[in-house]
Amino acid sequence: MEVLMKTKDLCCTFFTGPEPVYAIKQVNLTITRKKFTVLRGPSGSGKTTCINALGALEKPSSGEIYFNNNRITGLSEFQCDELRRLKMGFVFQSIGLISIMSAYENVEFALRVAGYAPDTRKEWAEQCLHMVGMYKRRNHLPAELSGGEQQRVAIARAFAHKPDIIFADEPTSALDTMLGLQVVKLFKELVENQGMTIVMTTHDPNIMEVADYVYTLEDGRIVEEDTTMLNTDCK
Ligand SMILES: Nc1ncnc2c1ncn2[C@@H]1O[C@H](COP(=O)(O)OP(=O)(O)O)[C@@H](O)[C@H]1O
Ligand SMILES: [Mg+2]
Repeated sequence: MEVLMKTKDLCCTFFTGPEPVYAIKQVNLTITRKKFTVLRGPSGSGKTTCINALGALEKPSSGEIYFNNNRITGLSEFQCDELRRLKMGFVFQSIGLISIMSAYENVEFALRVAGYAPDTRKEWAEQCLHMVGMYKRRNHLPAELSGGEQQRVAIARAFAHKPDIIFADEPTSALDTMLGLQVVKLFKELVENQGMTIVMTTHDPNIMEVADYVYTLEDGRIVEEDTTMLNTDCK
């Protein structure tokens, strides 16, 4: 068991309204390399805030985050950008493919952004689409694909640059149950067969059995951990 990420007393408070909103409070969690970790909880429980803090998209108000034993809280904007671009991949509920690009072009573009040489991009982009079962439909535009197929392409795009970790915030919530389950199974396969590390949020209780670790959030706090063997100290 190798720890990839760890948080210590992580808090995010928003001061945008008349009252402060304590979105996550004293969150301590561990993300194990090559495992599938799920953060679950009802709407408003802090899942998005938590995954955004882990993915360096949101600055926590207090507490620490460690990535590969390095403290990433306190990094500059530029360093956070680099970290996200090189080491992290993101899948969103809204999917967010570029609509004028084919499935293939979306993945190839991600490789271009990550600085892959032109001669390696084609083969690897096709390979990534193959891994998510979308090779045959690689030349279709997003609008010509179902929601589930689009999300598969978005997943290929998220892992194409070989990040250390993929964050997926409610990637199934725009899909019907069957397609959602297929996406989750795909994540599971990527963890088991490709050794990827995936963190996913969901409010769907049916998805839990495929996860290696489950953290349950309620009102910004972790109320339940279904984890074992997570005692490795990151510090
Ligand atoms: N940018 C923000 N400004 C103010 N409040 C926010 C902001 N983002 C989230 N919140 C609040 O923080 C709490 C947790 O939100 P969120 O992390 O989005 O929960 P979830 O993803 O579990 O639905 C909610 O009460 C939400 O309204
Ligand atoms: Mg959310």
